[in-house]
Amino acid sequence: MQALRFRCIRGVYKGMRDIAEFIVHTQVRQGEHYMKRTLGLLAFVAAAVVVPSVAGAQHAYVGVKACTMCHKSEKQGLQLAIWEKSKHAGAYTTLTTPRAAEVAKAKGLAKPANESPECLECHTIKGGPDAADIKQGVQCESCHGPGADYKAMGVMKVRDSAVKGGLVVWADKAAIEASCRGCHNDKSPTAKTFNFDEAWKSIAHKKPAA
Ligand code: HEC
Ligand code: HEC
Ligand code: HEC
Ligand code: HEC
Repeated sequence: MQALRFRCIRGVYKGMRDIAEFIVHTQVRQGEHYMKRTLGLLAFVAAAVVVPSVAGAQHAYVGVKACTMCHKSEKQGLQLAIWEKSKHAGAYTTLTTPRAAEVAKAKGLAKPANESPECLECHTIKGGPDAADIKQGVQCESCHGPGADYKAMGVMKVRDSAVKGGLVVWADKAAIEASCRGCHNDKSPTAKTFNFDEAWKSIAHKKPAA
């Protein structure tokens, strides 16, 4: 999805460039009609640009540090330390190992594992190489959603506004398990049986009751 969205944006930019070139041509060729045409075309460009932002979900990724400035203390639940200790933090690095090269070769991939969308989609953030600093592996935003529009204190404090800003929340344990299985599934070339209860216990990062 992310990759698709980025392609759309690139498409819009390319469109704008083409239109800009067209405007220049029109200006040279048609002297006095230039203003009218330009305004018309600019309105068209504006409409084209508005479409993707109205379609929403244009939230940008901000990376781990932008979260852990508020979510690392013992009082908050040690989210940074727990994540750093988990395999998720090293998920990108794993793709640079000889073992990953073997797995990628067996799949017949043309590019190295750490440049292949087929691997990056689960070892970084869903959406792969178009989005943010992939070296952070499976990071906070891989699960919680891109944070640019919910990370501000005023937004975070009000759950509904954070959700509007792109924070992903889950109705219950089953929904959490389903989200894990978005990556922990048979499409993983090294798939092992996924035991949700055990797996969740090993990475749980709850805020302690006050
Ligand atoms: C400026 C401080 C700040 C930043 C930065 C921040 N948060 Fe928060 N976050 C909070 C506060 C405050 C709450 C409300 C709960 C609380 O008091 O701990 C919260 C709540 C949450 C919750 C619980 C939401 C719920 O109700 O289920 C999650 C998940 C979360 N933040 C993830 C993140 C992620 C991921 C990032 C980075 C993209 C991030 N936060 C950045 C301050 C922050
Ligand atoms: C974006 C994809 C993605 C999501 C979502 C995801 N994981 Fe993972 N997880 C991975 C990858 C990739 C690895 C392997 C990392 C490595 O070894 O380098 C992994 C490894 C793990 C491990 C270590 C397993 C082992 O065999 O050592 C645990 C535990 C784990 N994940 C738990 C969870 C839980 C619980 C959830 C849901 C709350 C979850 N994961 C959601 C991609 C994901
Ligand atoms: C593999 C997926 C995954 C990763 C990676 C992950 N989280 Fe979470 N996080 C969850 C799930 C699932 C919950 C539980 C939500 C619930 O109980 O509804 C949660 C809960 C939270 C909460 C709420 C804690 C509470 O008890 O109020 C905060 C805050 C949070 N995460 C922040 C972070 C930060 C910061 C990072 C990165 C350092 C991070 N998370 C990485 C899946 C993840
Ligand atoms: C559908 C999600 C998914 C995709 C796609 C994926 N992985 Fe993984 N990968 C995981 C998960 C989850 C784990 C950890 C648990 C496991 O091995 O089942 C993992 C673990 C690994 C490991 C460490 C475990 C081991 O057995 O050595 C390597 C290496 C690896 N993946 C390489 C790759 C390569 C290379 C690609 C691309 C060809 C790839 N992965 C594509 C989800 C995925």
